[in-house]
Amino acid sequence: MTTHIKQITSESLSEAKKIIFDGGVVAIPTETVYGLGGNAFDDSAVEKIFAVKGRPADNPLIAHVHKEYDLSNIIDYDPPYAKALREAFLPGPLTLVYPSTGKVSPCVSCGLNTLAVRIPAHEGAQAFLRAVDIPVVAPSANISKHVSPTSAQHVFEDFNGKIPLILDGGACEGGIESTVCDITGDIPVILRPGLITKEMIAGVVGACEEYTPALQEGEKVKSPGVLYKHYAPRCKTALYTDTAEAVNACQAEKRAGKRVAVLCEEEKLPCFAREGVILFNLGKTEEEMASRLYGLLREAEKACDTLIAVKPTKQGGKMTGVLNRLTKACLSVDIKH
Ligand code: TXA
Ligand code: MG
Repeated sequence: MTTHIKQITSESLSEAKKIIFDGGVVAIPTETVYGLGGNAFDDSAVEKIFAVKGRPADNPLIAHVHKEYDLSNIIDYDPPYAKALREAFLPGPLTLVYPSTGKVSPCVSCGLNTLAVRIPAHEGAQAFLRAVDIPVVAPSANISKHVSPTSAQHVFEDFNGKIPLILDGGACEGGIESTVCDITGDIPVILRPGLITKEMIAGVVGACEEYTPALQEGEKVKSPGVLYKHYAPRCKTALYTDTAEAVNACQAEKRAGKRVAVLCEEEKLPCFAREGVILFNLGKTEEEMASRLYGLLREAEKACDTLIAVKPTKQGGKMTGVLNRLTKACLSVDIKH
């Protein structure tokens, strides 16, 4: 199969629509990361997404809809505070988990009675979702466990020859996946942190909790995705909190003849500026770090044998999502791709 990358035009949208209604998958841009989209009502399209990504069968998918879509088709109950959240943040990088009507394919939620719904802000995503006018499930468009894609080229690198079409909507501004927030209870619970923070949600609803997957025996995990290793570059990685330790590790790897790269916030770069070390600048602000992270991890895996990452000093707020992704990416030492 030849994989085409196309700008978003009325022709490419018609082509994408045809592929979706024929049961195929199309990569689409969003403001967070690129997604691998398929018809949420079509069992075989949903199965195809799991197969092409190599995704574990118990990790549910997010249904994406345009901003005028009638949510009552797919959600069974709209909790009282949900409207305020939609008005404050949507369209945007917030996914809400509702009780499901069960009308989408059962494969979407992997047996859970909830459905994660996202209304992306990206103009190209909206145009595509309006064109198809159905819920489209779209996990991040990367091979399972690999770094999420923030450009059409990243998607191409993972799926060349495996999908027919990538709609090119430019570089993703946000850079990390949407905040996933369970709204089935009295208080919203963040299952995956992102650029819509706990504080922002609590500011609208009055309260918000964060789910930490410390499972008691016999307890069912609420968001299976949080347990998997994710976002991993295909090189050896290590994450340091202490800069001096990171400098030592860097030197030891160099002595061992490895190509070494360092990924850190801008102000720490001078600590690592020495011959033969490749430097990746995460930036200064939370937003910069979020939008650069995945692109830099993908550059690193091409350029080095060992990536030494240094934990940025900022914490909380939007950094929670950035640190969550960076930490998971650097758990990858023992993953053989
Ligand atoms: O920004 C995003 O959310 C991107 C773009 C493409 O929209 N999509 C994305 O999808 O990150 P994916 O499949 O890579 O991650 C979906 C996350 C997983 O952690 C999954 O476990 C969780 O959402 N999830 C999906 N449905 C759920 C449900 N019914 N209950 C709890 N968690 C759910
Ligand atoms: Mg993903």
